[in-house]
Amino acid sequence: MFPEGDIVRGKETFVELGCTECHHVSGIGDLPRYEIEANKVIVLGGEVRTTKTYGDLITAIIHPSESVTAIAGGRTDADPGMPDVNDTMTVQQMLDLVTFLSPQYVKLEPLYEEYYMP
Ligand code: HEC
Repeated sequence: MFPEGDIVRGKETFVELGCTECHHVSGIGDLPRYEIEANKVIVLGGEVRTTKTYGDLITAIIHPSESVTAIAGGRTDADPGMPDVNDTMTVQQMLDLVTFLSPQYVKLEPLYEEYYMP
C-alpha cells in the first residue's frame, strides 16, 4: 500500500497546481472556480459504478490521456487534456492529492435485482 497523504494539504495542492482550472470536485464547494467553459469541466468524484482505487487515481494524475495521446499522436491546442505534472509535482504532493480525491468518489451499491426475493 501507499503511505497516507494529508487531506488538507491535498486540497491546497489541488489549487496550487492549477487542477481547479479544469476540474470541479463533487461535493467541495469552496474551490476556486475553473476558468474554462463549463461544458469542458471534468468533475472528479461523485457517484461511480466502478471504484476508483488509489492506483487508478495515481495513474490518472501521473499518466494522463495515455490512450488519447497514443491514438492522436500527440496533443493539439484545442485539447484540454491533462497537463504533464510529473516534472513539477513531488511524490508527497501526489499522495496528498490522492488522499484528498479518493474519498470524494462515492461507490454506488451494486445492483442485486436479480437475486431480490420479496
Ligand atoms: C488543462 C485541463 C486540466 C488540468 C489543469 C488538470 N486536468 Fe485532470 N483531467 C483533464 C481531462 C481532460 C481529463 C479526462 C481525460 C484524461 O484522462 O486526460 C482529466 C482527468 C483527471 C482524472 C481522472 C478522472 C476520472 O474520474 O477518471 C483525475 C484524477 C485528474 N484529472 C486529476 C487532476 C489533478 C490532480 C490535476 C492537478 C495536478 C489535474 N487533473 C489538472 C484535464 C485537466
